[in-house]
Amino acid sequence: MPHHETGEALFCLRGVYMDQIVIQGGRVLKGEVRISGAKNAALPILISSLLADGWNTYSNVPDLKDIQSTKLLLSSLGASIKSDGDIIKINGGGMCNHEASYDLVRKMRASILVLGPLVARLKKARVSLPGGCAIGARPINLHLKGLARLGASIELKHGYVEAYADHLTGNEIYLDIPTVTGTENLMMAAVLARGATVLRNAAREPEVVALADVLIKMGAKIKGVGTSVITIEGVSSLKPVSVSIMPDRIEAGTFMVSAALTGGDVTLLNCEPDHLKAVIHKLRLTGARITVEDKLIRIVGADEIASVDIKTQPYPGFPTDMQAQFMVLMSVARGFSIISETIFENRFIHVSELKRMGADIKITGNTAMITGKPALSGAPVMATDLRASASLILAGLSAVGTTEINRVYHLDRGYETIEKKFAKLGAAIKRVKI
Ligand code: EPZ
Repeated sequence: MPHHETGEALFCLRGVYMDQIVIQGGRVLKGEVRISGAKNAALPILISSLLADGWNTYSNVPDLKDIQSTKLLLSSLGASIKSDGDIIKINGGGMCNHEASYDLVRKMRASILVLGPLVARLKKARVSLPGGCAIGARPINLHLKGLARLGASIELKHGYVEAYADHLTGNEIYLDIPTVTGTENLMMAAVLARGATVLRNAAREPEVVALADVLIKMGAKIKGVGTSVITIEGVSSLKPVSVSIMPDRIEAGTFMVSAALTGGDVTLLNCEPDHLKAVIHKLRLTGARITVEDKLIRIVGADEIASVDIKTQPYPGFPTDMQAQFMVLMSVARGFSIISETIFENRFIHVSELKRMGADIKITGNTAMITGKPALSGAPVMATDLRASASLILAGLSAVGTTEINRVYHLDRGYETIEKKFAKLGAAIKRVKI
């Protein structure tokens, strides 16, 4: 039985409810939705609290399973945490434990981001290797290679990374792939290293820029943020800060697709249009009418959806985290489209579920060929990973009939009360405990 099946079996045995989301499709979505703080910015920024003594204050933090996991992880390392609504205060000064256990890391692979700060501040770290996940093997070889370039000795033992450095020394690091968390991990290690570090082929994602901005506010010396060459001049210590988490561009993109899909009229509040240029461009090509103001995006769906090809790329290209959502739109577009997934090796898991809803999709390698159909038909389906779960909700919203989505715990990792937000836009959607 594959791992996640046993996991689920145990989950049920423990009597923990396996929530289900039930959708009656066909409603036109209208109204306003407030976009929450970005999960993939909040995770590294909360972890950066380990780099300084004193209380950091983080606001607009989304209320997500992954945020809960991060708080558990940080307190297991000795940090002090206080929460009040979307405000979280963290003091990394009490950090004393250098070990991140398998039990915590297996719940959230981004836990690997504690590696850099632990070595930088405690000179050593023992972090469980994050396993693969549904969308791919997701190795961390580039994180480890970079850390070794900064002078850390790295050993892999019994499923753990053991890293040690009496002190880290700045160096030139070339990343074979512009890895997002790899760039973040190495930035957090280099800010307290002796001398200068140059990260070449660094990731340019807005979440990386957001972390760098927080580190600079803490007193780090970083240049080239948002470009593929980041230069970091090490400093001896950093000070705590008070910052707000940037809006979640993937949540925003998901709601934009829902408006295009249902021919609706939806206004996104508290979002960052600048982070969504590739998604806006592609959605306009499908016929959606999109107007952009300061922190607001309004999207009106077209009567007929045009087929558009996409190829996922590192930022500022079309984001891989929006691929599954866009595929749903193409499955009811007019004509034929091609979607290429260039970032992860196995990110078409949602395809088999969409095909059960009537989508006409053929896969060869990392390319999906989609022939648009007039409509999808509702069916019981299963969520497998965070963004695939969102695509199943989108499919249910547009399908004829009832869709039941199982294993929605995947959704809770990355979307804050998504069914409530869709219900507020007029969707016939509810969460049931089974
Ligand atoms: C981040 O994952 C995001 N997660 C992912 O979002 C996102 O899909 C991904 O970036 C790409 O944009 C967080 O920020 C917490 P990568 P990350 O390292 O950093 C390979 C979501 O849904 N690689 O940029 O793990 C890797 O296998 C999640 O919110 C190596 O080979 O992604 C992948 O094929 C899903 N060796 C490619 O690079 C390494 O050492 C990009 O991975 C590191 C990565």
